[in-house]
Amino acid sequence: MCGIIGYCGPKKTASILIEGLKRLEYRGYDSAGICIAGQGQFRIIKSKGKIKNLQNQLPDGLSGNYGIGHTRWATHGGVTDNNAHPHTDCAGKIAIAHNGIIENFEALKNILTHEGHKFQSETDSEVIAHLIEKYYKGNLEKAVKEAISLIKGTYGLVCMHVDEPGLIVGARNGSPLVMGIGENEMFLASDVTAIIAHTKQVVYIEDKEVVCITQNEFRTTDLNNREIEKEVEQVSWELQEIEKSGFSHFMEKEIFEQPESIKRAIIGRIVPELATAKLGGLNLSTNQLLNVERIKIIAAGTSFHAGLVAAYLLESIARLPCVAELASEVRYRNPIIERNSLYFAVSQSGETADTLYAMRELQRKGAIVLGICNVVGSSIARESNGGVYIHSGPEIAVASTKAFTSQISVFYLLCLLLSRMKDMSLETGSSFLENLQTIPINVGKILESRQKIKQLSKKYCHYKDFLFLGRGINYPVALEGALKLKEISYIHAEGYSAAEIKHGPIALINENTPSIVLVPDDRLREKIISNIKEIKARNGKVIALCVEGDEEIKKIADDTIEVPKVQEIFYPYVMIVPLQLFAYYSALELGRDVDQPRNLAKSVTVE
Ligand code: F6R
Repeated sequence: MCGIIGYCGPKKTASILIEGLKRLEYRGYDSAGICIAGQGQFRIIKSKGKIKNLQNQLPDGLSGNYGIGHTRWATHGGVTDNNAHPHTDCAGKIAIAHNGIIENFEALKNILTHEGHKFQSETDSEVIAHLIEKYYKGNLEKAVKEAISLIKGTYGLVCMHVDEPGLIVGARNGSPLVMGIGENEMFLASDVTAIIAHTKQVVYIEDKEVVCITQNEFRTTDLNNREIEKEVEQVSWELQEIEKSGFSHFMEKEIFEQPESIKRAIIGRIVPELATAKLGGLNLSTNQLLNVERIKIIAAGTSFHAGLVAAYLLESIARLPCVAELASEVRYRNPIIERNSLYFAVSQSGETADTLYAMRELQRKGAIVLGICNVVGSSIARESNGGVYIHSGPEIAVASTKAFTSQISVFYLLCLLLSRMKDMSLETGSSFLENLQTIPINVGKILESRQKIKQLSKKYCHYKDFLFLGRGINYPVALEGALKLKEISYIHAEGYSAAEIKHGPIALINENTPSIVLVPDDRLREKIISNIKEIKARNGKVIALCVEGDEEIKKIADDTIEVPKVQEIFYPYVMIVPLQLFAYYSALELGRDVDQPRNLAKSVTVE
């Protein structure tokens, strides 16, 4: 949410900043700006809208050898050129770009205004520039430390002072900041995607740390000026992973990557001869795992839906009470930590504020919280008590797709591990594993049948409301299908348990409200067929996702999307992929901005 980049080096700074901002655009795309420093002055160019608007406004010959840039997702103040970052102090000598929220900005702004500071924007961030101005006595690093000691809230911050050429000071509290070490050049960014075209050598800045970079050096200290030794890490992502590689959109690419990304989540983690899984990152001994009496999963959005699938799975197969809860609700509920409970914080980005803060609250109360994350080195990955990476590779599209199937893959492995420690037999374990390993092929088959889904999207995308209905382990899949459709096509869609429609939602059914119904060949099939008939009796249209060759469903539904037959508990994989495609093609047909839908941003680092 909001992206930051800073650069010190010999290359054309404006190009480096713009290229970095384009890679960060998925984090926020309301407005953007850059500040280039050179020859004793700052040049600031800002523009609302996409980075290409900013790019179009860049004057020729914009030179300078260090600078900062920002892409914004508005929190305080409307989407205007003025509210875009970088912001400056009164004298225009200090420039800052900030991610996060300054909770006490009003109080600080009142004091500063009273002292004579003049504000140009409605943002909370601008107070930082004025605070630094207030404390600046020839040393930017020192002034930054004084300023941030007064700030309540979160920040990932980069700033420069005209009088200290070639220096960028960065600071972090709650919003990610990473430093990149290139050859004869240094970077600061809110995530590595902005800089891996230039370097894979990175240093993750921690909360309450301040970093100073120049072209060839860096120094990290805490707020008490103690030097901090930092480990230089190697990023494993390749540049092509953050490029579209011939696909029209990142979302399309990420949907189509799923056979591979699911394999990557599983590979190296199975022990076929013992029909079990190994998840070393959990940091828990067999005895500790055997003592687990219940599991709680906290997450938001799509990751929450993956958690709901996991809860169903762990309860029905591993026979452990398990619930998934919205992290945003857990945090403020003063949660009770029960003995022998194990917690999982699930997050693609590993930076979602709701999940991160809920995790911290649980840890404060003594809970062991394990992370299931995609982004290596992210806050949740680092602060959790252990965990498992899903290894999906970068997910750039704002709508999460491959992360969902990889997150559930890790939970299928966890389920196998826990079940095999208890009463699942070797034979059942082997069959579980065999079935899991067929999933990438089955997902591949669905991707091959995309034309049919595309046609159906064309036929139905002009309806204004949709219901998504599923039961059992596929109920969360219905929720996720509805979320995908609404977030990228802006069509109103609600997910329900098919059984629930008679308790209210059936009132919405008429010829203008189609229902997408998930009908696996499982125990509940007959009941779902009754639900379809109830919808048809009220003139509702039904698109059914059913198993290949299910003639009965074909007769009663208006349209069908066939999915490969899999073992009952594995249906979430083959049910979600057609729904992702349906959302994608509907959004495309409606001319939406698929990768950057309105009002959204990837990695929600504010509450
Ligand atoms: C939906 C979506 C969001 C995220 C949610 C949590 O497509 O992308 O709902 O799933 O913001 O994000 P992470 O998984 O990064 O914690």
